[in-house]
Amino acid sequence: MFSLPNNATIIEVGPRDGLQNEKNLIETNVKLNFIKCLQDAGIIEMELTSFVSPKWVPQMADAEKIVKNITKVGRQFVLAPNATGVERAMENGADAIAVFVGVSHTFNKKNINKNTDEAMDSLAPVVAKLKEQGKFVRACISTAFYCPYEGKIEVEDTISLCKVFASWGVDELSVADTIGMANPVESYTLFKRLKEELPNLLLTAHFHDTRKMALANIYAALQAGVDRFDTSAGGLGGCPFAKGATGNVATEDVVHMLESIGVHTGIDVEKVCEAAKIVEPLISGTIDSGQFRLFKQK
Ligand code: HMG
Ligand code: MG
Repeated sequence: MFSLPNNATIIEVGPRDGLQNEKNLIETNVKLNFIKCLQDAGIIEMELTSFVSPKWVPQMADAEKIVKNITKVGRQFVLAPNATGVERAMENGADAIAVFVGVSHTFNKKNINKNTDEAMDSLAPVVAKLKEQGKFVRACISTAFYCPYEGKIEVEDTISLCKVFASWGVDELSVADTIGMANPVESYTLFKRLKEELPNLLLTAHFHDTRKMALANIYAALQAGVDRFDTSAGGLGGCPFAKGATGNVATEDVVHMLESIGVHTGIDVEKVCEAAKIVEPLISGTIDSGQFRLFKQK
């Protein structure tokens, strides 16, 4: 048996990844309440919103209001795809920025209207400036395992992209199974390599849960030495430009699993469930609720 870490960090992505794909526009006050309840549950790292084009993602059009009106607790990220997004974020007092790019050219074209090389060329000066200003930079690597348009992604291609971000001095890599297709062997293999090759970076695993393998993938990532996980209360989420993407792994399920195997998260699972209830009635379509709550409701 490998040795489990004593603690793991949950990065709650519900207010951003969880809501970005929702067609019904959710009121800013509801989102602020959702964020506050998640903070009350003990979450100290969270993606709040994204400063993307409101034409592309209308749900995130209130990013300014969100950042201005939250109480800062721990590290609070906002996503930004480009210099315009970073400028908007800075004007509103954000200090931890998540940039994002996929390994796959086709996914990037659909998500940010640039292929991978073009996206990296335009992000390089943006990240350099953020680091000069002493900001915390998280780099989110989409389609690290599979792309909905190009299929399987080679491990070496994902590692190469991660290494470019590492050479730019980013603080964290969040490596994503965008469409929830990875299996535990793939999770272990990629995260083990990343831990070996980039030992000085914070490394986070971001799993969507299409095939209900996210918990197994998290366990495999733990085995590879990862102790940071992106999760979304209620299992909400998905990228609007990744065909077939479903929700993120549910925060309550991950907290429950980790706590039950002795890995402390500092998060109150019941309070996470309460937080999820704030937004769930407003979500259109099917909600892929966390199994922890389904079990409790029986
Ligand atoms: P574009 O149309 O190519 O942009 O979109 P552009 O640079 O040509 O500019 C066109 C107009 O948009 C201009 O305005 C710009 O000012 C404006 P106009 O002159 O026409 O009035 N603009 C902006 N406005 C507000 N904020 C901005 C911004 N940038 C330009 N930041 C763009 C390119 C990147 C903007 C667009 O494609 C976009 O916003 N994409 C975002 C897509 C997105 O949010 N995807 C989901 C997040 S990623 C994800 O979920 C994956 C993740 O969870 C990990 C995983 O699971 O894989 C992180
Ligand atoms: Mg995602």
